[in-house]
Amino acid sequence: MTELCALSGFYSPAQRARFLQAVGRRFSVRTFTGEADPAKLAALQYAAEKVALPGVRIVIGKCEEHKLYKKLPGVPAISGTGHYAAVIADSAHPRARYHAGISGEAFVLEAVSLELGTCWIGSFKKRGVKIPLKKNEKVLAVIPFGTFEDKTTHRKRKKLTDICSQDPAQWPLWAYNAAECVRNAPSAINLQPWYMSFAGRTMILQKKGMGTRLDMGIALLHMSLGVGEKDHVIHWEEGKKVASLLAEDQIL
Ligand SMILES: Cc1cc2nc3c(=O)[nH]c(=O)nc-3n(C[C@H](O)[C@H](O)[C@H](O)COP(=O)(O)O)c2cc1C
Repeated sequence: MTELCALSGFYSPAQRARFLQAVGRRFSVRTFTGEADPAKLAALQYAAEKVALPGVRIVIGKCEEHKLYKKLPGVPAISGTGHYAAVIADSAHPRARYHAGISGEAFVLEAVSLELGTCWIGSFKKRGVKIPLKKNEKVLAVIPFGTFEDKTTHRKRKKLTDICSQDPAQWPLWAYNAAECVRNAPSAINLQPWYMSFAGRTMILQKKGMGTRLDMGIALLHMSLGVGEKDHVIHWEEGKKVASLLAEDQIL
């Protein structure tokens, strides 16, 4: 049997329900109108510790935007908030980069449930992060957060049939919902580097193209959330296959 993923059973039913609700409302916000108020900031500081899987720390920092964010072609630079969460992985932990994707996205969904905007930023000025790091630790991404005016743009996403091995309309509803939830996940440069298949009672998530372990961790959290309240277990797989998710009414 392959290794059990730490995501299995890690988040409480209440957290999972909150995250799932936030999935449909999340989109990347780059132009903020202000910072989170002290009550929301305190709630996020608490959440940052609670959502982190082994090998990951999520630490909230503050920085002038021009010192942390790069100007990239085609997307507006981050502006309007100094608050960010640093997603820090300990390379001594073998699954730290996947865990960082899962934990960082859980933080994002906590922020969205507090009506705050967020954006994963993988391309940032490393020197702008002033958080002291321990041996083997690296900041993989920062997530600015703050208030925003809702100017939701239509999500650009691949068709479900392009990211699944068969037509997921033929799958059980839980597996269809899980695939749809992955489809909504954020990914670097919107590459959507994931591919899903289903057989028996098992769904497999695999990497397709240039995806990073961070992207795949994010997708894995979305896949698990999409299953909803149905009991399931997740195991790590090898090679391009990232993980398998087994769901049934009664897990023996
Ligand atoms: C790991 C990761 C790194 C990202 N890095 C950046 C970045 O450096 N700059 C940026 O503007 N957006 C970045 N994004 C945001 C993606 O561009 C965005 O998630 C994607 O275009 C999908 O849009 P959506 O989040 O609104 O659904 C990143 C997203 C992820 C998941």
